[in-house]
This record gives sequence, C-alpha cells and structure tokens, in this order.
Amino acid sequence: MGNRTFTMIKPEAVRAGIHTDILKMITDNGFRIVALRMHHLSRNDAMRFYAVHKEKPFYEPLVEYISSGPIIAAILEAENAVEAYRCLVGATDPKEAAEGTIRAKFGINQRQNAVHASDSDDNARIEWEQHFVESDIML
Ligand code: CMP
Repeated sequence: MGNRTFTMIKPEAVRAGIHTDILKMITDNGFRIVALRMHHLSRNDAMRFYAVHKEKPFYEPLVEYISSGPIIAAILEAENAVEAYRCLVGATDPKEAAEGTIRAKFGINQRQNAVHASDSDDNARIEWEQHFVESDIML
C-alpha cells in the first residue's frame, strides 16, 4: 500500500469558498499536503481526467461541470493513503455518505460531491501527473 493519494476539490466547493474548510478537515485528519495547485481545467483536460467514465451516461455533464471553474488539486500523504482518504471522503452520493465524511458535510449531489478521491495507488499517480510535475511535489 502506498502512502500517497490524489484529491481534487471540485468547482462548486471552490466557488462557494469552502475549499479552506475542506483542506483543514484533510490536515486535521492526519494527511500531509505534499503538493497543492488551484487551476482551471480545459474541456480536454477534464475529458482526459475522467476518460475511464466515457461510456457512462453522466460523463458529458461531468466533463462540463469539472471544467466550469477552478479546482484545487492536491497530493496527500498518510499511511495507506488511498484507502484512508476514501474513508474520510465517504460515498459518491452525499446522501449516502457516512456522517462526519467530507461528502456528507460539503457535498450537494452525486456530481457536485465536493471532492474527487483516487481509487488505487496506480490511478493516484496517473491522476496527479495530470496536475503536477515531479519538482512540484515535496520529497
Ligand atoms: P469522482 O470521485 O470524482 O469520480 C467520478 C465522478 O463521477 C464522481 O466523483 C461523481 O462526481 C460523478 N458521478 C458518479 N456517478 C454519478 C451519477 N450516477 N450521476 C452523476 N454523477 C456521477
């Protein structure tokens, strides 16, 4: 199990100004932020980021939404990071997310669910390489 994962705070959370609360919740729960970047994904960036979902009915609105405003990308460090962070984030649908999770607290609906969390060590690296170069990341 790796000790790093990738997250992205989604546009509605950044727009609402709750990204600082989310980052605090992440660090309060024992994750160290080893890379951080706020930027606006192009439509092409968003299509590439969510390419695994391209056959799904929610793909097109998801791409549209993720490229609708700035996001915050971060690499997080903790023991068993992917699993630990998915636990802190909660279920995709905020209505089903356990109490005390990021999505239960800050999510609106299945699409606007506050944050993205990588689902494996391999995907975490593939995803953070779309936002950071090696020299952006703390050793
Ligand atoms: P995320 O963890 O970023 O990974 C894929 C995203 O697709 C997911 O969070 C949601 O934002 C979105 N998504 C997944 N399932 C649905 C759905 N049924 N309807 C709308 N959006 C969805």
